[in-house]
Amino acid sequence: MVRDDLIIVKDLKKYFPIRAGLFGTKGVFVRAVDGVSLTIKRGETFGLAGESGCGKSTFARLLLRLIEPTAGKVLFDGIDLFSLSKKELRKLRRRMGIVFQDPKSSLNPRMTIYNILKRPLEIHGIGSSKEERLNMIIEILEKVGLGEEHLNRYPHELSGGQQQRVSIARAIITKPDFVVLDEPTSALDISVQAQILNLLVKLQREFKLTYLFITHNLMVLQYISDRVGIMYLGKVVEIMNTRDELNLGKVYHPYTAFLMLSIPAVDIRERRRDKIIVPGEVPSSINPPTGCRFHPRCPFAKEECKSKEPPLLEIRRGHYVACHFPSITEEKLTPYVEERMESIRRLLRGGS
Ligand SMILES: Nc1ncnc2c1ncn2[C@@H]1O[C@H](COP(=O)(O)OP(=O)(O)OP(=O)(O)O)[C@@H](O)[C@H]1O
Ligand SMILES: [Mg+2]
Repeated sequence: MVRDDLIIVKDLKKYFPIRAGLFGTKGVFVRAVDGVSLTIKRGETFGLAGESGCGKSTFARLLLRLIEPTAGKVLFDGIDLFSLSKKELRKLRRRMGIVFQDPKSSLNPRMTIYNILKRPLEIHGIGSSKEERLNMIIEILEKVGLGEEHLNRYPHELSGGQQQRVSIARAIITKPDFVVLDEPTSALDISVQAQILNLLVKLQREFKLTYLFITHNLMVLQYISDRVGIMYLGKVVEIMNTRDELNLGKVYHPYTAFLMLSIPAVDIRERRRDKIIVPGEVPSSINPPTGCRFHPRCPFAKEECKSKEPPLLEIRRGHYVACHFPSITEEKLTPYVEERMESIRRLLRGGS
């Protein structure tokens, strides 16, 4: 039986202990991921966005069990990820890959490209001879737009874009089902970003990959993802379908609306990394606000928002929102967001 959902996440939590310091802060935790439930469908690109520190990378690392959870469950193709033994986990890891933001620090500078790509094959016992592995390596290099001539080079002898192509090759050489892309283009020149995005789209089709794509850049998500989840202080506050609605304009959470309104419309083409600016400070995830975590920054917050945490509810088919008053955003912010997104799209298409 082929399941529609490749990954099912249930109430996942990761609290990092803070070292007991001068003031005896024992028992204090950063709630990096604080109760996230969602599913990632087979073959889709699930985009994840939100301000720095909201827990995106921690969430991704949990899905690959690179770190252990504090609580919660992840089913990977029906397999309970956190109940696996080390040996079983190693076997399952063949079906997962990850590409990090900065290829320079994620590729070992002392290894040649050949050796970097040979490692995953060795770890998973793929290929029966040296020759067979070499052929696999050359084949994957060609798939990512590199060639045999790169085999004996070291990462520093490649451009940033080429380095990221190697990272991608390393992530998919075991023919995984699921690949986490953690800001895979944010460290690259703007001209290279589009090439890498196009490569990722091509590879997804060819290898039937499922992506979790993390980025600060909402326009990138608009371009590449099927669904988008917005995180705020360890929680998912909105999940929407970008394919059905054709754009990211229709939003119901004030935080999502502010994220979108803060995309710079004028210099979007030039910016290397889009900084998200939402009014107010991000509160600490050590002591998150009561009720709705966004209430101290929300211009529409009412009494209820301060005391009662809003659950993530399906407001329209496939569209989930964790807000007590989504109609206020719809009325007061959505029209501006839609207008802004349209003008950005026009700009990106090359208009004025
Ligand atoms: N190993 C760790 N030990 C302690 N705290 C951590 C650890 N890893 C992450 N954190 C904290 O958990 C929170 C979430 O971090 P995370 O890296 O997941 O955020 P992020 O959304 O990926 O941010 P960015 O957009 O900057 O990459 C932050 O407050 C961070 O400082
Ligand atoms: Mg991160």
